[in-house]
Amino acid sequence: MALTLGIETSCDETSVAVVADGRRILANVIHSQVDVHEAFGGVVPELAARDHLVRLPHLLDMALEQAKVAPQDLDLLAVTRGPGLVGCLLVGVGVGEGLAAAWSKPLTGVNHLWGHVYAAMLARPDLEPPLLGLVVSGAHSDLVRMPEHGRFEVIGRTRDDAAGEAFDKAARMLGLGFPGGPALDRLARQGDPKRRPLPKPSLPGLEYSFSGLKTALLYRLRELGEAVTEQDRADLAAAFEQSVVESLLEKLERALNETPASEVVVAGGVAANSLLRQRAAEVVAGRARLTMPPLELCTDNAAMIAAAGHYGGRFGADVDPSLGW
Ligand code: KG4
Ligand code: ZN
Repeated sequence: MALTLGIETSCDETSVAVVADGRRILANVIHSQVDVHEAFGGVVPELAARDHLVRLPHLLDMALEQAKVAPQDLDLLAVTRGPGLVGCLLVGVGVGEGLAAAWSKPLTGVNHLWGHVYAAMLARPDLEPPLLGLVVSGAHSDLVRMPEHGRFEVIGRTRDDAAGEAFDKAARMLGLGFPGGPALDRLARQGDPKRRPLPKPSLPGLEYSFSGLKTALLYRLRELGEAVTEQDRADLAAAFEQSVVESLLEKLERALNETPASEVVVAGGVAANSLLRQRAAEVVAGRARLTMPPLELCTDNAAMIAAAGHYGGRFGADVDPSLGW
């Protein structure tokens, strides 16, 4: 059995995990910094980095204790090296390097985006590449092909905002708190997307764009002005959510038509969205097998980093805030 310790600090979740053979989670402790950033309406990088540093030692103890694993039993340390907030990444990598030196263990730097795809392997231990992936998070809306472990080819991406960013901005316009995506998801459940419809973005090929949709929402809210009711807000949340979700799935379907795949993975924080989960299952049904990680593995966590570290090959742990696929 190969044991990997994962460390994730790229944004506003601090997490430490122990994963066996890249598939079985022995521990995955996650500390969300929502309370640190709530009052600011968004993630404050400096505060996020400091909080990672404060929380990591305790989370590390908890993860090892839960997994019933001693440091000397570990085979590999895996730490997120990017993409993410530079100060946050530096904290994780610094701690990872310190532990690797103290325990005389190998360390690998992990691509956070790969981690989101590997979350699906934790959810389904028999899942193997090749696969088609849609990774939707706060900073990415990417369609990728994964021909084998540790290899990804981007076939589609967004021209402007990522889906999660669009949800967060729309949530702010609708007067919802931070974090916006889950709040918008809840409000949309009370609304009817047909009552105040918003345009679905339409770009050629496999490209996404969500900034026009965001502007459309802004104009609708301006038109309604002071007269806006709770129901209007719920209807607009539902319309916005529907436009984003249908746009994401339209391109996923096109990618599936162009180069068929038998396995499809939809992952990343936005894959926690309830409408996306329901509609993705309907769109993919009968054409491929769909895997969407459970909610706690969609949003940032260290188990997915440990899995990607186990399977993805060994890399240096130099921080790269804008690391691509
Ligand atoms: O993957 P993630 O945890 O962090 C990044 O790597 O960016 O994704 C965070 C994003 C945020 O934009 C958040 O609003 C969004 O995922 N999100 C959701 C939901 N849960 C999280 N968006 C829509 N519906 C949700 N239920
Ligand atoms: Zn992420």
